Amino acid sequence: MHKILTIVGARPQFIKAAAISHAIRDMRDEVKEDILHTGQHYDDAMSAQFFRELDIPQPRYNLGVGSGSHGAQTALMLKGIEETLQKEHYDGVLVYGDTNSTLAGALAAVKLHVPVFHVEAGLRSYNREMPEEVNRVLTDHVSSLLFAPTDTAVQNLRKEGFDERSIVFSGDVMLDNVRHYAPHQNTTEKGERPCILATVHRDFNTDHPERLRNILAALCNVAEKHNCDVLFPVHPRTRKRLESMDDAPVSGRIKMMAPLSYLETLAAVQRSVLVMTDSGGLQKEAFFCGRCCVVLRPETEWTEIVDCGAALLADADAEKIVDAADKLWDNIPCQPTQFGDGRAAVKIVKNITSFLLYK
Ligand code: UD1
Repeated sequence: MHKILTIVGARPQFIKAAAISHAIRDMRDEVKEDILHTGQHYDDAMSAQFFRELDIPQPRYNLGVGSGSHGAQTALMLKGIEETLQKEHYDGVLVYGDTNSTLAGALAAVKLHVPVFHVEAGLRSYNREMPEEVNRVLTDHVSSLLFAPTDTAVQNLRKEGFDERSIVFSGDVMLDNVRHYAPHQNTTEKGERPCILATVHRDFNTDHPERLRNILAALCNVAEKHNCDVLFPVHPRTRKRLESMDDAPVSGRIKMMAPLSYLETLAAVQRSVLVMTDSGGLQKEAFFCGRCCVVLRPETEWTEIVDCGAALLADADAEKIVDAADKLWDNIPCQPTQFGDGRAAVKIVKNITSFLLYK
């Protein structure tokens, strides 16, 4: 029996871990999983509700690290993960995506010679000012198995000279989730005004008042122009910044609300004509649900969505955002074919078990 430690800490990781935990549960004669939660996200709406709703096993360990500067937050995680790995033997460590929790998990494990398995490997924005880019590049370089969600991610890894045997095209676990959960969501009710789903949480948008102001001004403009509402679930970081701004553009059409659960998010995507976001996960959820997306960033890791015309990069430029919304309004995107077959989680768990068997 192989025993692996899954390391999570931030909202998008709980969602990805759900798909894998369910696959591990189905293969429980071969592999056992313990979950370590770093505590990077700690509000009920950012953390616990995902464990309840997606039936993820309760973490065996919670480091309760909380918020802090990058160095301080990552250091506390490293210390706690290292202590856990020294206390108990694990055959491998599973990490997801590109957060500080991902990097801390990978670094603590590799230094103790525990193999690292990276889900969502090979993603690149080629923008080293993003903490996420630094985290994902470093994590890839210490991982034994690199689970690439798309062919672009595979090519990125090849370009960087990774050992071909460590690269696995798995497809995207987020497609597994959308295929599993989306058909069960209630969408529009009769007589409702059309709506847009918008989210903003990246530090380069929230921590520059000018950019946040431009985005909000554009959202107000698009809502007026298309006579629609904007559903705006607000990340805690964004809420704090908005509270300290006294000139944030406002409109009755912008419906600010607490962060949504995963199922509420899928329902909101399906209710919406368009999605506008700086989140990588939501860009994909929109695409998988057949909605176009205005990307509130200068670049994206998910280039295939832009290449097929289902998303436009508008950065935090008010004019570009309005223009992109006009262009994509009524647009029906192509079918997602680049993200695997919706069975990525099973493929990932099988690859991990055979790696551990033959290593
Ligand atoms: C983190 C990830 C980002 C991911 C995002 C998803 C890094 C570097 N960034 O960004 O890649 O897309 O999670 O949400 O790891 N806060 C709360 N309650 C919480 C969580 C956060 O109030 O439960 C507030 C705190 O003030 C904190 C701020 O949000 O300082 C930022 O949280 P942090 O986890 O550092 O980064 P995120 O912006 O959430």
